Amino acid sequence: MRGLYIALEGPEGSGKTTQLRRLAARLRQRGLEVVEVREPGSTALGEQVRALLEDPAHGDMTAEAEALLFAAARAQLLRCVVRPALEQGRVVLSDRCVYASLAYQGYGRGLGEEVVRRVNEVATGGLLPDLVVLLDLPVEEGLVRDAGKSRSGGDRIGQEAVEFHRRVREGYLRLSREDRRIRVVRADDDPDRVAEQVWEAVRPLVEGCREAP
Ligand code: TMP
Repeated sequence: MRGLYIALEGPEGSGKTTQLRRLAARLRQRGLEVVEVREPGSTALGEQVRALLEDPAHGDMTAEAEALLFAAARAQLLRCVVRPALEQGRVVLSDRCVYASLAYQGYGRGLGEEVVRRVNEVATGGLLPDLVVLLDLPVEEGLVRDAGKSRSGGDRIGQEAVEFHRRVREGYLRLSREDRRIRVVRADDDPDRVAEQVWEAVRPLVEGCREAP
């Protein structure tokens, strides 16, 4: 049986990492085997690529190089972790996925959706999440929330101008209007209520899966 591939997405400060943990716990309670991953990362190579991407010392990184580095980390993760887990019937919960590249590099950096899709064709080999939960909130609110967190590696992209983050959010919303895999959940709400909305989006996919005794 093929497993399930679910990704959480959203602009900076959308709370997706917290929501991912809560969702993982809920799925495990139902007796499902869950593998949590993050992009970029969750492989030795991917974590090193993440450090490169976050390092403010690389302020001159071109948009093309950036897109290719995200895709390289993705190629490693999908081939070495995600595909094997799905083949074993597990639920893969991913903190970001290829849709982040479409939003950040495609719209934020202005490379365009088409170029980013092409760059990622080899990286994904056509494997896309069954469901992408997009945690949406106003950009300013997300950036304020994020300012309170200390992040490793310097966070080169998070420090971009607010205009950049607006393009990213608009990109996500535009993608959500055209792509039925994406379910938008309002993230500027109480975390418990957000968790319920996330669960409502995920539930139909896991319905029928084995319940914990
Ligand atoms: P994180 O904040 O979810 O850990 O993600 C790391 C940063 O990398 C965040 O600013 C979003 C950005 N990013 C991209 O620009 N493109 C991508 O393909 C991915 C996966 C993340």
